[in-house]
Amino acid sequence: MKTIKNIDIINKKNNYPSVFNTIDIGKINLKNRIVFPAFHTNYANADGTVSDKQIDFYNAIAQGGCALIFTGAAVVSSDSIAFDRVMRIDNDNCIQGLSDLFSEIEKNGAVPAVQLIHYGRQALNAVTGHDLIAPSAIPCPIMSQFDLNYHVREMTLADIERVRNDFIDATVRAADAGVKVVEIHVAHGYLLNEFLSPYSNHRKDDYGGSLKNRARLIIEILEGIRSKLGSKIAISVRVSGDEYVDGGLKPFDYKEIIPMFERAGMDMLNVSAGVYESAEKIIPAPDLGIAPYVDIAAELKQYATVPVCTVGSILSLSTAESILSSGKADLVAIGRAQVADYELVNKSFAGRENDIRQCTQCGRCIFANTGDPEMYCTVNPSLKPPNKK
Ligand SMILES: Cc1cc2nc3c(=O)[nH]c(=O)nc-3n(C[C@H](O)[C@H](O)[C@H](O)COP(=O)(O)O)c2cc1C
Repeated sequence: MKTIKNIDIINKKNNYPSVFNTIDIGKINLKNRIVFPAFHTNYANADGTVSDKQIDFYNAIAQGGCALIFTGAAVVSSDSIAFDRVMRIDNDNCIQGLSDLFSEIEKNGAVPAVQLIHYGRQALNAVTGHDLIAPSAIPCPIMSQFDLNYHVREMTLADIERVRNDFIDATVRAADAGVKVVEIHVAHGYLLNEFLSPYSNHRKDDYGGSLKNRARLIIEILEGIRSKLGSKIAISVRVSGDEYVDGGLKPFDYKEIIPMFERAGMDMLNVSAGVYESAEKIIPAPDLGIAPYVDIAAELKQYATVPVCTVGSILSLSTAESILSSGKADLVAIGRAQVADYELVNKSFAGRENDIRQCTQCGRCIFANTGDPEMYCTVNPSLKPPNKK
């Protein structure tokens, strides 16, 4: 496959002036506004360290021209290894592989970032080999259907302290490995989202009840990272702007949440949607249309002073350009369409839009989260199913 390097491109007329415009995330400068969002692939080594396949995958995305690449999700706690080949950042043996990965991404022209996760109740005991933990002992209605022995317990204060330290320690490891941005995963119904939401957090102590209490663990993590690392790295927080469940978080709730996160150290807000009960929103199904969450991002942007990223079924730079030029978001994350064609950004910049291999939103890549041994893509020939090498 021939790769178009940035340097090769002589763009006579930039059709995407808002896309190809620099921006700062904290102290980190991005060359354009296109982000590759966290995308679990099952490509890590069996021990959770970075594999050559992961390095090749992210190198190809970086060479394709986007500015910021979130690798991961990477698991911060050893009790939450939710997939056989999930990326880990819970121990120091992971640092060398991460360092290789981040430096390769940087060499290929993008800013390396990593998303940090604890899966909370959205996992299977049979896979993690541990009790599932959550703010309250409320089973995930989806995951509990897959395991008769599914069991979740309410976290003790000692559990909360451990998880807080796990997120902070993971960030220090990422910084030691040379990352420029970490993303705290507070979206999609995972542990920190479970804390933030009145839907899944029914605690009666300092970590439940009021919004301030529900946000407390996240604030402590953000403040803990800042006190250890200062402004050496930038911090993104990914949220579900709407959980799309009765009694869950709605965009307006973020009016109070976002200033709290900003005061605690957030440099970028990454706005997604959904939890497992509304999974068709997390990875939007085609019938939701193009860019279904842009107005949610626009509402949250009104409450924010930091750059705001939108995501979801954005398949072309012309859609990205119109979102950015309308002022509804400052950054646009493109996931599946960059997997379908790593060079979506560079080809568009070069005026070669007709050469882009389109993502059909067939949904095959999603099965990396539910059964396929590795993520693959039905239109990208370099990402074949494992048995068709
Ligand atoms: C295979 C796959 C794995 C994903 N893994 C993650 C993940 O680890 N963390 C996360 O926050 N989002 C994850 N997502 C969601 C994407 O980051 C993104 O929000 C979603 O795919 C919508 O963007 P798109 O329409 O551009 O693909 C994943 C999506 C897919 C398809």
